Amino acid sequence: MKMKLGAIALVGLCLGVGMAGMAGAADEPQVVRAGLMKKAGGALGAMAAIAKGEKPYDAATVKTSLTTLQDVAKAFPEQFPKGSETGFNTEASPKIWENMDDFKAHAKKLETAAATQLATLPADQAGVGAAVKAIGGTCGECHQIYRLKR
Ligand code: HEC
Repeated sequence: MKMKLGAIALVGLCLGVGMAGMAGAADEPQVVRAGLMKKAGGALGAMAAIAKGEKPYDAATVKTSLTTLQDVAKAFPEQFPKGSETGFNTEASPKIWENMDDFKAHAKKLETAAATQLATLPADQAGVGAAVKAIGGTCGECHQIYRLKR
């Protein structure tokens, strides 16, 4: 009996993995929003590398990264339709759907922070450091409330 249950659990696990790889999964909001956040992580990471002196200052990289962050902030809150509360290993907290307006306000904060930096464009390593700090704060604030810790 124990063996049988184990086998069933295993089949379930395989199905779960298989489904995530199925065609169409890429369009699911859980997958789209995780992809957007990965883009945000990459963009902020590129700026952090400059801030830390791992990469030389490069205006084009900074501009592209800030534009990406602004675009992500705009698109992200649209990826939480009803029915996407669970599934695809989402780390979205149920609090998002209870406080959608506040959640959107947090996304707007990121958008504004990125737009503010874009308007003047950080001109050197120190400037990029200040931008990373200002923008990173908005990431952390939202994660604190609306991202589940796994
Ligand atoms: C408006 C709220 C909000 C803001 C602002 C925000 N995040 Fe997120 N972030 C989330 C939520 C919610 C998730 C979980 C999404 C899910 O799994 O469905 C997440 C997930 C992530 C992930 C994990 C993606 C994955 O692989 O599944 C990364 C990386 C991330 N965020 C980086 C950032 C960075 C960097 C910033 C700032 C530039 C940022 N986030 C700003 C809410 C936010």
